[in-house]
Formats: sequence, structure tokens, C-alpha cells
Amino acid sequence: MRQNIINARVTFRNSPIHVLEQFTIRDLEDAYEQFKKYSGLDECVIIQTCNRIEIFGKSKKYDIEKIKKTWASLAGLEEEAFRENLELVENNEALHHLLKLTSGLDSMVVGEEQILGQIKNSITSARKAKASGQHLNTLFDKAIRIGTRIRNTSGIGRGGISVGSMAVKLAEENIDELKFKKILVIGTGEVSTLVAKSLQRRGYDFAVTSRTLDRSKAFCETMGGSPVKFEDVLSGFENYDVLFVATTAPYFLVTFDRITKAIKEKKGGMMILDLSNPRTVDEKVATIGGVKLMNLDQIAEMVEKNMNARLNKVKTVENIINEEVSVLEASMKRLDVEPLVKDVFKNIDSLRVKELEKALQMLGEKDEKKIKIIEELTKAVVESIVSTPMNNIRKASEQGDPDIIETASKLFGYKKNELD
Ligand SMILES: NC(=O)c1ccc[n+]([C@@H]2O[C@H](COP(=O)([O-])OP(=O)(O)OC[C@H]3O[C@@H](n4cnc5c(N)ncnc54)[C@H](OP(=O)(O)O)[C@@H]3O)[C@@H](O)[C@H]2O)c1
Repeated sequence: MRQNIINARVTFRNSPIHVLEQFTIRDLEDAYEQFKKYSGLDECVIIQTCNRIEIFGKSKKYDIEKIKKTWASLAGLEEEAFRENLELVENNEALHHLLKLTSGLDSMVVGEEQILGQIKNSITSARKAKASGQHLNTLFDKAIRIGTRIRNTSGIGRGGISVGSMAVKLAEENIDELKFKKILVIGTGEVSTLVAKSLQRRGYDFAVTSRTLDRSKAFCETMGGSPVKFEDVLSGFENYDVLFVATTAPYFLVTFDRITKAIKEKKGGMMILDLSNPRTVDEKVATIGGVKLMNLDQIAEMVEKNMNARLNKVKTVENIINEEVSVLEASMKRLDVEPLVKDVFKNIDSLRVKELEKALQMLGEKDEKKIKIIEELTKAVVESIVSTPMNNIRKASEQGDPDIIETASKLFGYKKNELD
């Protein structure tokens, strides 16, 4: 492949949640600007979810140090931080990884749906920022289609357990008689919806809060639960025994001081499940007597157990991905040669038109029907001469033969930098 597709990532597989959150890129618009200017990538897509921060890039020659430097400056990190957390793959392996992402195979909850939507959003914002181009747009569009097909045919997403129900299950496993405890959900987004659905299904009463009371009210109308004022919650954590926290707040909502006060004022302990990344609960609260804190890492452990039941489906999906990767790789390699093919067709066609006009002038032909026949003849001659070598060049490119592209460029006077 003349162009390299690369994937640099920090994910929950290698990094616990408190490490992962340090790699978060906060301002995506600015990030795309910086990556375009400094990373040495010609195209770039950033995927950022609670379990992963990933950069997909396209470049003829890339320099991982430049990518790390750009990422480090955006996240406010030392480059050293990447040493134990960064995974880097290219070409075939990068395509393979993207298919694992779109089909849900690399998710903490295998087969979960959210990642597909998150990837669609990522390529949409990369397109908007003009950070992705022909290669990554094609790659992502194809990978999303393949991932959707795999999900539909394999049933990988069926019978799975959501992050929300996993958190509820953890609460059930750790708390005696959860039914009699006061439960609070902080947040009214996607994850809170999953938690609320699970609580509702299992018959628990719960309160819901979000910064605006109207939003909590609307949420409770469809998801169940009782809305409570955000300010009342922040000053009165003692009113609750179990907290599910799922917000995108960029600071701790559940602080050491607030929970210390709550524990002093209430009878009994408290369980806090922080589903957020970055975390919204200060890890220090775990040091307060009577407080049990769990975060996304603990949920990951539970998923591992849940995974065993689904291993058969995973194997099927892996097999499909292995077949799809080679098809995807061939279309990416073909893209490398498309500018040359287009250019050759365009040049030859303009020669054809020029010569046709000359000949028609010499003939003094006025009959539209005859002119049409001569024109079609010139097109057919050009097509039959050019299409075979062009298809052969395409095939050679699909098979990863870079020499033939170089030779064809020289032969047809194609400017080399247009292929870069
Ligand atoms: N989506 C997933 O697949 C997934 C899976 C596991 C974990 N997570 C993590 O879970 C968290 C929530 O994700 P989500 O997908 O549910 O997000 P979301 O749908 O965007 O919802 C975000 C929630 O955060 C609240 N919020 C934002 N800023 C806040 C602030 N300063 N103070 C208080 N509340 C604030 C919003 O409430 P108001 O604006 O109404 O106040 C909203 O309810 C994130 O940290 C995410 O990384 C997501």
C-alpha cells in the first residue's frame, strides 16, 4: 500500500480508567487543527468514548513521535506517558481493528450498539473539520456498513448486558436488600437511561437529578423514577444509599467533603458507582469508612465473566472480520491509484475531443446523426485501448505492487506528487 493507514490508541484494554482519562482530548475542533498542522498525517479521525481515545490517520510516511507530540500537547501530557499505554498498528491491522470496533467486538460490552453511533459521529466531525479525506472517508463508510451487516447477521449484540444493567447487577451483588435502599441516578444522558431502564425492569424505586429540573422531569416521564433538584442533591447526599453517576461534567460532582458530611449525617454506608469517564466521583471518597466506590474498571471485570457465554458468537464474528479485511484492504489499495487512472482518462479524452473536432472540421460534416456515429466511434476506440491497461494498473495496486504505479506514472507523464 503506497499510503499507510495507521491507528494509534489508548484504550481500557491497556489502561485503567484513571490513566485513560488523562489522554482525553477536550477540544476536538482545536485537536483537528493541531493534527493537520503538526502530526505529519494527511488525514485524521479521532474516536473518543468512555473506553478509548483513538487516532486513525493516513500518511505516505508517518512519524509516530510527531503524532505523540501533538496528542501529548493537546492532552497536557508528557510524551513519556504514552510509553506503557499506546498501541500502534498500521494497514491490515488498522483495518482489522476498525472492523472490530464497528462490529462491537472490541467493546467492553461485546456487541453493544453505542460504539457504532460514536464512530459515525467521529467521521462526521472529521469530515466537518476537513480532517478526513478520500481514504479515511471511504474506509469509515465501508467499515460502518460492514460492521452493521456483521451485527445483523451474527446476532452479536443480542442477549448482551448493557453498562447500565451491569452497574445495577453490581449494586445488587454488593448491597443487601437493595429494594429498601434510597437510590439516586445523577445524569439524564444515554448511560443514565440504561441504568434507569434496568432499575425499572427490576422494580426498584429511584430518584433522578440533572442540572435542570425540567430535564429530570422529562426523563422520569419516560424512564420512571422521581425527579429531584440538583442543588438539593449536592447539599444532601446523606439522603441516598446508592448513587449511579453518569455525567460528562469536567470536574468532580461527588467530592470528598460532600460524602464525608453525608456519611456523618446518615445511618449506614453508601455505595457509589461512577460510570463516567473522565470520572465524576473523587476516588478519595473510597477512603471514607462505610463508602464503597466502583468505577468502569470494575464493570470491565464483570463483563469479562459475562463474555464467556458469548464466545461462540465472537468466534463467528472474528471469522467474518478476517474475510472482510482483505476485501477492505483491496479497495483501500485501489484508492491509491485512482487519481492516476482518472488523470489518464481525462488527458486521453481531451486529446480525443481535440482530434474529433479537427476531423469534423476537415470533413465539413453537418449531419448530426453522422457526427454522433463518428463521436461514438472515437469513444469506443479510446475505451478499448485504455481500459485494459488501466484495469491492470488497478489490479496491480490492489495486489500491493507499488512499482507498477511508479512505472505507469512515468509512462503517462503523471505528476508524482498528485499521488501523495
Ligand atoms: N455512552 C456510552 O457508551 C458510555 C458507556 C460507559 C460510560 N460512559 C460515560 O458515562 C458518562 C455519561 O455518558 P452519556 O453517554 O450518558 O453522556 P450524555 O448522554 O452526553 O449525557 C451527559 C449527562 O451529563 C450531564 N452533565 C454534563 N455536564 C454536567 C455538569 N457540569 N454537571 C452535572 N451534570 C452534567 C448532562 O446533564 P444535564 O446537561 O441535563 O445537566 C447529561 O445528563 C460519560 O462520562 C461517558 O464517558 C458512556
